[in-house]
Amino acid sequence: MNTGKRSGQIMEEELKKLKIRRPDDLADICKIEVVEDKASFKLCDTAKKNLPQIADNQLLFFNKGLVSVKHKPLKVGILFSGGPASGGHNIIAGLYDALKEMNPQSSVIGFMNGPDGLLKADGRVLSAEDINGIRNQGGFYLLGTSRTKFEKNEDLDKCVETIKKFDLDGLLITGGDDSNTNAAHLADHVKKAGLKCAVIGIPKTIDGDLAYPPYLQTSFGFHTASRIFSEMVGNICGDLPSSRKIWHFVKLMGRSASWITLETAFQTQPNIALIGEEIKEKKMTLSQVIDKVCDVIEKRYKAGKKYGMVLIPEGIVEFIPEIKNLIASINKGIVKIGNEPFIKMRLNDRKEKILVELGEEHERLFIDLPHEVQNGLLSGLDPHGNVQVSQIASEVLIMDLVLEHLSKRGIKLTTQTHFYGYDGRCGYPTMFDATYTYNLGRAASLLAANGKTGFMVSLNGLSNDVKDWKAIAIPLAGMMSVEERKGCDCLVISKYLVDLKSNAFLEFEKNRDKWALEDCYLCPGPIQYWGPVELVESKAVTMMLNS
Ligand code: FBP
Repeated sequence: MNTGKRSGQIMEEELKKLKIRRPDDLADICKIEVVEDKASFKLCDTAKKNLPQIADNQLLFFNKGLVSVKHKPLKVGILFSGGPASGGHNIIAGLYDALKEMNPQSSVIGFMNGPDGLLKADGRVLSAEDINGIRNQGGFYLLGTSRTKFEKNEDLDKCVETIKKFDLDGLLITGGDDSNTNAAHLADHVKKAGLKCAVIGIPKTIDGDLAYPPYLQTSFGFHTASRIFSEMVGNICGDLPSSRKIWHFVKLMGRSASWITLETAFQTQPNIALIGEEIKEKKMTLSQVIDKVCDVIEKRYKAGKKYGMVLIPEGIVEFIPEIKNLIASINKGIVKIGNEPFIKMRLNDRKEKILVELGEEHERLFIDLPHEVQNGLLSGLDPHGNVQVSQIASEVLIMDLVLEHLSKRGIKLTTQTHFYGYDGRCGYPTMFDATYTYNLGRAASLLAANGKTGFMVSLNGLSNDVKDWKAIAIPLAGMMSVEERKGCDCLVISKYLVDLKSNAFLEFEKNRDKWALEDCYLCPGPIQYWGPVELVESKAVTMMLNS
């Protein structure tokens, strides 16, 4: 039957109707008790000192009770922070449904453009129509997002004013490690100001670097992004033994952590997948990394295979000692000039200014880099002091150096670079991400209803069937430690990087030599919502191996 509708319209409508399952323990929201664990959560001294209001928080469990509680109408705000990640809209939908089940007079207030909306009191009550329009949809478009950091006490004071103005019982900050660091400081400040509002962190990021085992297994958006990238890489893998003529160098998003690359490697079985954390641990220089790639290419070449796939995590440059040191010198220069004025300069002016700041050795290294890489290194820092690795063309760097090196071995290749990053952040969420986020939103409603501030909401037991997932809340202050950012010691939530002793890495290590020489490529195809349950309810391989 031809309805005249395009596939995009049909997909959007069908996904809105998709039924999202709930864990048994979260089904009857009015009967759930939030119970505190015995005092067992240890804090670092700086967290105790800087976050005194939330320092005594302990783990919270959500238990199925027998008695139905009558909740008063609640007003709960929500904002997105940082890069988009698939599933964000279902956090709002889950929160909305749960609040309405508790009391139909309850409302959700959406703050526009991330933390900026809170600073500017730019929020509005979300209607049933708003919510029904975003169920199971990708992106963050209902509210937008930003990377604004609450730098000073005045920023936190402005947030307090907004919370008072909207008379909020709860506020959900949906973000990564930096945004949840923001959430912890805000929670402390809001409690100090004597407000009832519970500030709650929601674990979001495609990077997979926000985890806190065993309490937080993954952040939402990671599974969808990895699946989208795997589909694209898998499609190229289909081309490799068909056209038999190109080596592809694919950079994958994910900041410093190589989780996305590792996950995509499991999904597609490429010839080479570089893991930044391994390069760091083995203290490999750039030329050693290039040698390793060339050795595989040469072996395949001699076996008559002039094609292959190399996966490169976008943060690799932060792990290669000479580039890492160069980045540190550039960033020191940027901090000296001031990040804001620096990024407003024309590229040539930035280059001139930075060259003056570099020592002789770094100057030489910088000048020898491909132009795309030089330009990326001059992108400046984001508001949280992160290097903007997505702007650095490390795939071009690796490919150029590999070609140069191979020509010395008498090998000529046809090559192609790709960067998959923004492509994977806003697709329709996988069933896993749609279900995870919807139920994170439901669990967060209970923290707001019980006035539990300074927690990150999480679901455990994710390798089990959805009905057995268990909600918990982790004290934000307990997740924090002191790290250097923009040249200062800061209390932050640490990034969760690939552990070389983890089951996921060990499994990769066991298989990679075979993948290097044989053609073991897999093509997972598009994300599925209907059909075999193993496909529809698939989960990240890395998460399953590490569970
Ligand atoms: P978050 O850490 O905010 O989740 O963002 C993740 C990310 O997608 C990284 O993988 C990437 O390096 C970065 O955002 C790109 O940032 P921007 O959106 O500012 O270009």
